[in-house]
Amino acid sequence: MPELVPFSTALRERSSSAHSGSEHAGFMADLMRGKGTRDDYVALVAQHWFIYEALEDVAGRMSADPVAATFISEKLTRLPALEADLAFLIGDDWRERIAPLPTTQRYVDRIREVGAVWPGGFVAHHYTRYLGDLSGGQFIGKLMARQFGFETNGIGFYLFDEVADPAAFKVVYREQLDAAPWDADEQARIIDEVLVAYQFNTDLFTDLADAKAAQVA
Ligand code: HEM
Repeated sequence: MPELVPFSTALRERSSSAHSGSEHAGFMADLMRGKGTRDDYVALVAQHWFIYEALEDVAGRMSADPVAATFISEKLTRLPALEADLAFLIGDDWRERIAPLPTTQRYVDRIREVGAVWPGGFVAHHYTRYLGDLSGGQFIGKLMARQFGFETNGIGFYLFDEVADPAAFKVVYREQLDAAPWDADEQARIIDEVLVAYQFNTDLFTDLADAKAAQVA
């Protein structure tokens, strides 16, 4: 089967139920159907900052690897947009006012651990975040703008100024996944790492819901 099904297709199929788990996690689902608050949204942006700080720091070093380098593009870089969003949403002292939740810390540790030694694992984390941001993320950004009255400030994270056509970008990204010189074992390991990445994202939504409940209590 792996010979017949392109890797990008196998990856999407094998991770689709993990994707549903992330998409329908209570915190995210509430935010999407207008049951979340602006503070909830800000809490999510803050956690994204820690995740992308790790991902983009590791990308800097992984760009020396010929396979990982094909996926790395400055067009995707999200950290400056996240920093501008946090300054707008929280204020200039945003850095002193945010901290990683436990799952975020574990997620960041994993990105750094894998990113130090394993190009395929790094691509797994890169794919899970950036292809998501270019897919459902585009819809999430528009919904958050509408719900909380943002124009571009506050949702800069979702605006890929340098990616004019996200669908076309994803097609090329999938072609690169299919062209990467990974054997079946390595492909299986990468899919497993994508599932790990999804689990972190789902667990993060649980942490965010718990942190919110603790504040209310
Ligand atoms: C409310 C939350 C979400 C919605 C509504 C959503 C929606 C979608 C949709 C509609 C697609 C398919 C786009 C296409 O076929 O081109 C997609 C793809 C994707 N999403 Fe999400 N998503 C959500 C959350 C997430 C989360 C939390 C992650 C992980 C961090 C994620 C990661 C991905 C990835 C990696 C893809 C690309 C799959 C592929 O084509 O290989 N999504 N999402």
